[in-house]
Amino acid sequence: ELGPYRHYMQKEIFEQPTAIANTINQALSQGFNPDQFGEQAQQILQQATAIRIIACGTSYHAGLVARYWIEAYTGMPVSVDIASEYRYSNGLEQRGTLIIAISQSGETADLLAAIRNAKERGEVKILALCNVAHSTLTREADLSILTQAGIEIGVASTKAFTTQLAALYVFAGCLAQARSSLSDEKLAELANWLPRLPAMISAALSQESEIEGWAQALSHHAHTLYLGRNTLFPIALEGALKLKEIAYIHAEGYAAGELKHGPLALVDENMPVIVCAANDALFEKLMSNLREVEARGGQIYLIAEPGCEAALPYVKSAIFLPLNTGPLAPIVFTIPLQLLAYHTAHRKGTDVDKPRNLAKSVTVE
Ligand code: F6R
Repeated sequence: ELGPYRHYMQKEIFEQPTAIANTINQALSQGFNPDQFGEQAQQILQQATAIRIIACGTSYHAGLVARYWIEAYTGMPVSVDIASEYRYSNGLEQRGTLIIAISQSGETADLLAAIRNAKERGEVKILALCNVAHSTLTREADLSILTQAGIEIGVASTKAFTTQLAALYVFAGCLAQARSSLSDEKLAELANWLPRLPAMISAALSQESEIEGWAQALSHHAHTLYLGRNTLFPIALEGALKLKEIAYIHAEGYAAGELKHGPLALVDENMPVIVCAANDALFEKLMSNLREVEARGGQIYLIAEPGCEAALPYVKSAIFLPLNTGPLAPIVFTIPLQLLAYHTAHRKGTDVDKPRNLAKSVTVE
C-alpha cells in the first residue's frame, strides 16, 4: 500500500497534487460560481453579515490563511477562533454571522461543542469544511464543503491541510462573486491561478533532495524559529507545528514583524530561523527582518519565490520555488515545510506516522 514511500505521511505529502486537483475540480470548470456548493449556497453567501472561523490545530491554521483571502476579496470582517477557546468564551454573535467550522475528521469534540455553542449565541449559519462526507460536523451544518483529500492515515495532517486551503481560496472567490465585491476582471485573474496549482505543488515536491540537506542540519538542534508575513505567517505556524509534532523539536512560528517585540532575544548562532519569502509588496519589510536576524548570528534557511534574490547575502541556505505563486503562496510554501518536518523526523528516527502522545482524531475534550 505504501508503494515507493517509507511512511504514510510521505505518501500523503506526495498525493497533494491529485488531492488538490480533486478538491478544486468544480472550480476548474465553473470558476467562482457559488452554485458548486449547492443550491442554498448563493443565498447564504449573500446574506452573511460577518464571518467567524472556528477550528483546532492545523485546521485552525487554514482558517488563519482564509482570513487574509476573505478580507481582501470581500471586505467582510473575519475573526478566527480556536475551538477550545471559543466554546468557553462569552459574547453574542452578530445576527447573520456565517460560522465556518474547519475539520479534517468532522469529529473533533471541541469543534462540535463550539458550533453548538455558536447556535446558542445568536442567529448564525454553520458552514462545514470537512474531509469526511458523513461526519457529525456535516450533519449539524447548514451547508457543507467537502475536501477531496481521501483518507489521511498519518497523524500529522498534510493533504487535508492543503486541500482545506484550496477549498477556502475557492470559497473566498465565490463569496466575492456572490456579493459582487470584486470586478469581473479581478475575479477572472484570481480564478486563473487555480489551474496552475497542481503543477506548482509538483514543482515544490521535486525539491525534496534539497530539503533533506536542511533536515540533516536541523535534526541536531533543539529550537527553531519560523517566520513569515501575510498569508505566510500562518504557514510559519503550521511549519513549526509539523516539526514539533513529528520531529519533537521545539519550534515557534512568528509573524516576522513581531521579531523585535520579543523573539529576537532568542536569536544567536544556535537558532536556525526558517523564513518564507514571497515576492510581494512586503518583501522589503521581510528583508529588514532578515537583517535583524543575520546581525545576531542567526542561521537563516530561506524558502523564497523567484525575485527574492536580494535576500541571499543574509542567509545560510536558500531554496527557490521554481515559479511565482501569487495568491496561492500559502498552499505552495506548505510543501517544503512538510518535507522539512518529515525528513528531520525520519533522521531522528521518530515514529513519523504515529507521533508520541497524539491521536488522529481528538474526540474527547
Ligand atoms: C496536526 C493535526 C491536528 C489536527 C487537529 C484538528 O498535524 O493533525 O492539529 O489538525 O486535531 O483535527 P480536525 O481537522 O480533524 O478537526
